[in-house]
This record gives sequence, C-alpha cells and structure tokens, in this order.
Amino acid sequence: MLRTMMLKMARNESFTDLVSFAGRKSGMVDRFVAGKTLEEAVPVVREFSSHGIRSTLDLLGEGVTRADEAREMAGRYLQALQGIDDFELDSTISLKLTQLGLEFDPDLCRENLRNILQAAVEYENFVRIDMESSSVTQLTLDVYRELAAEFGNQYVGIVIQAYLYRSEKDVEELCRLGSNIRLCKGAYMEPESVAFPRKSDVDRNFTRLAEMMLASKGFAAIATHDEKMIRHARAFAAQQGIPESSFEFQMLYGVRRDLQYSLREDGFNVRVYVPFGTQWAPYYVRRLAERPANMVFMMKNLFR
Ligand code: FDA
Repeated sequence: MLRTMMLKMARNESFTDLVSFAGRKSGMVDRFVAGKTLEEAVPVVREFSSHGIRSTLDLLGEGVTRADEAREMAGRYLQALQGIDDFELDSTISLKLTQLGLEFDPDLCRENLRNILQAAVEYENFVRIDMESSSVTQLTLDVYRELAAEFGNQYVGIVIQAYLYRSEKDVEELCRLGSNIRLCKGAYMEPESVAFPRKSDVDRNFTRLAEMMLASKGFAAIATHDEKMIRHARAFAAQQGIPESSFEFQMLYGVRRDLQYSLREDGFNVRVYVPFGTQWAPYYVRRLAERPANMVFMMKNLFR
C-alpha cells in the first residue's frame, strides 16, 4: 500500500524534492548512494573487494529526453569503464537504456550502447542493462538481443523482473540464447494488467524463474535480499549439482550487508550494485518504497 503510494508520488516533482531534501538532511541518501563521482565510490568498491565481494557500478540517471544529454551519459560511462581499469577495480557496470536515449531515439540509444560495449570489450569488462518500467520492456529486450548477438554474452547481460507476467516466456527465450540474466522482483509501479499485484505470486514466480536460469547454460545473477528466495536458489543449485561458478547473488549497496558477507563466507559469488552520481532522486525513492521502515527512519533522523 505505502509502496504503491510512494511510487505514484514519485512522479510528482514537489514530492521528489521534499523526499530528496529529507534524504540529504537525514543522511539517509548516503546509505544507498556511494558518492557523487566515481572517485568517491572507489573506496566502497575496494572495501567490498577486500572481502571477496565484487561490484557493479551504476551511474545514476534515467529518463533522459535530449540527445546531447544521452550522449553525455554515454561519455560518462566510457570514463567509468576507463576509471575501473585505471583504479583496478573488481567491478562491472550497470546502466539504464533510457539514460542513453531509448525513449525518444532508439537508434541513438543503440549507437551509445554500442560505443560503451566496444569499450567494455577493450577493457575486458561487462555491461548489465537494468530493466525499467514495462513501457520500455520490449524495446529494452530488442536492443539487448541485437547487441548481445553482435558482442556476445560475455560482454552484455540483461535484467528480468519476476513481477511481470511475460517474464517466464522471456526467460525461456533468453536461456535458449545462453544469456547472462539478472533476476530481480521488480521496483516500478505496474498495473495489474502486466504485473502480479500480490507479493506471494511475485515470490513464487521468482523461485520458478531462478530455477529455470540456474538450470540453463547461461550465467544466473540472483538479485534479492529475500532470505527465502536465496535459500531456495541455494538448495536448488546444490540438489542439481550446479557449479557455483555459473551463478552469483547480487544485492544493493546499503541493504543487508550482513547477508552479503555471510553468503561470501559460505563460498558463494556475491556482487553489490553500487550507484553513484548526482541524479539519485528516483533511485532513492524506489529504495524508500521497498521498505516503509526506511521512510520512518528518514523522518525520525530529519528532526534529530
Ligand atoms: P523484498 O522486497 O521482499 O525484501 C526482502 C527483504 O530485504 C526485506 O524484508 C528487507 O529486509 C530487505 N530489503 C529489501 N529492500 C530494502 C530496502 N530498500 N531497504 C532496506 N531493506 C530492504 N529492479 C528493477 O525493476 N530493475 C532492475 O534493473 C533492478 N536491478 C536490481 C539490481 C540488484 C543487484 C538488486 C538487488 C535489485 C535490483 N532491483 C531492480 C530492485 C528489485 O526489483 C527489488 O525492488 C529490490 O531488490 C527489493 O526486493 P527484494 O528481492 O530484496 O525482496
């Protein structure tokens, strides 16, 4: 209920401004965002590395509406790939196609992504395409498939959201292609016509899709902080004799660090999604919406 309300309000500029102000003042933003620049995020990535945990760096930003801005974002991702190489970080990158112009010029978006993928090949790195709202799911998958065919699954991967009805079919097809898939529950406001409204159905679908991915020849990234989902994936992998090298658990910076460390201690591959940049408001609102306690914590600290 609160999640739906917050995600609805996230479209309202005054609300986002208020939440951003409160987030900054309470220090809550710093919990989820590693810094304004790549340089500020470097110590975070190094700290994870020292515990054997990998990262994926995300330059915050989405819903770009101008070509010059989309090109600038692509340029900043090229710098990020170079920075990862210069600082010798154990990190891939994650990006959103609406950052690169998907919504107003898919060809420009392809061109931007192609440039980034060429750099990923050069630096032997990997690019994960985040999944956004259902209005761009098909387009995102189309661009992904086209460029994965061109560059190969070792350089580019995609995200699938368990809350969408369509995801089982998408996973089936992507598994046939040997895709590298990150599975998450889904963080956007979606109507009942496209997404399961009940959490129990989303969870059931998550476990089913995770099994399909783990059993496939592609790489599976199980992105959740839900211990039930994690226990299920672990048990399924053990039962099927699936090697630990063919999957990893992924979590967000600022969420369940204890679980990140304990999974790593148990010998599993773990990667943390580390966002940085100045355009953090929509990302931050989604994190608040996921857990009402975050909102309460922020408000309490605001008046302290
Ligand atoms: P669930 O929401 O059931 O939470 C399980 C438990 O985790 C909670 O009880 C709480 O303890 C903890 N928790 C979860 N979220 C928290 C938060 N914000 N603050 C504090 N505690 C929290 N979504 C999307 O639509 N497109 C994408 O590309 C991605 N990418 C992505 C990458 C990675 C690495 C992760 C981990 C997640 C995403 N997501 C995403 C977000 C995802 O869809 C989902 O919204 C969140 O992961 C929360 O769902 P859980 O699976 O953790 O389960």
